[in-house]
Amino acid sequence: MSIYHLARPLLFKIEPETAHRAMIRAMRAGVIKPCGGSVSSPMLEQDLFGLRFPNPVGLAAGFDKDAEVVGPALALGFGFVEAGTVTPKPQKGNPRPRVFRAPDHGAVINRMGFPNGGLARFKSNLEAHYNRSVEGIVGINIGMNKEQKDPASDYCALIEALGPMADYLTINISSPNTPGLRDLQKKEALSALLGRVMAARKDACPDNPPALLVKLAPDLDEAQQEEIAHTLVECKVDGVILTNTTLERPEDLPEDFRSQAGGLSGVPLRDKSTEVIRNFYRLSKGALPIIGVGGVSSGAHAYEKIRAGACLVQLYTGMIYEGPNIAASINKELLGLMERDGIGNISEAVGVDANSSDKKRA
Ligand code: FNR
Repeated sequence: MSIYHLARPLLFKIEPETAHRAMIRAMRAGVIKPCGGSVSSPMLEQDLFGLRFPNPVGLAAGFDKDAEVVGPALALGFGFVEAGTVTPKPQKGNPRPRVFRAPDHGAVINRMGFPNGGLARFKSNLEAHYNRSVEGIVGINIGMNKEQKDPASDYCALIEALGPMADYLTINISSPNTPGLRDLQKKEALSALLGRVMAARKDACPDNPPALLVKLAPDLDEAQQEEIAHTLVECKVDGVILTNTTLERPEDLPEDFRSQAGGLSGVPLRDKSTEVIRNFYRLSKGALPIIGVGGVSSGAHAYEKIRAGACLVQLYTGMIYEGPNIAASINKELLGLMERDGIGNISEAVGVDANSSDKKRA
């Protein structure tokens, strides 16, 4: 049992957001260090979006909203870190409490509503990160302010300011806690938005444009998924992140937890997000690189998402329950699974189960 698991009962007595703030402070202070070091192997490396990913396990958006701990997160063994969601203006988000745990179910519900320090603060934190010359891939997840009537103008302003600092940009149109945001997933709205953000990227970064990805909700029916997959391919986005949190509430969750408004993440989201990955891989015939996220907390979960069609995975809730060493342990387990299956490089596993209903192979 790790130190984190021993400390967890105490940590979970603290209100979730306060515990999260303490974790960020500890990371900034250099107190949270990788134990046993990160795992590196050519078997885990992949070239995607013109970048070399050292391993396929990333830290999902929402953990480091203001880009405060990009370096310390990379040092924990994550192959890439997605900072944000950042909005142009600072905003407070919804009233607290707004994050809820269900430890027996490995689940979290949040209705944060994009609290963040805004573009200026994010940019100066990221500049400080780059000034420390820490190696590692940095994605920037961008969103709109709550009161914005023309969402595209917020996304474009963020691309203009942050595009040149990003290895990839994520257009977040799937958080359930900003009214109207998920409507941008509808065909006409999506095409119009993508037209504007692609043009903004070209203007901001004419020579070396960062990859542009779109992050989607899991709560889309098959017809909507098909329509969106075609639109993303047509608009030539570089990839898709599947998925954000769900509005669904499985029956077996405790009543006081499941009645909270917001997006559900962790174990109860796992199979649903994997199914969406499988569908998108099939619908785009493997042409759209997928980052799979939702309920990943072990090598087997990561492997399942990769075999369903994801090139890379991300996690957030898994770190709350398993602690800061999670990326290293997932990578270690992945290597074991690949050796078992005679796979020389992780890219060979991508999509091998996309057409199978045998989801639990790993
Ligand atoms: C999130 N997530 C999220 N996603 C995003 O695109 N922007 C954000 O600001 C946030 N904020 C956020 C806060 C909290 C407290 C949680 C738990 C999650 C969603 C996250 O990136 C991920 O898509 C889902 O949580 C599913 O993955 P996990 O958590 O099951 O690994």
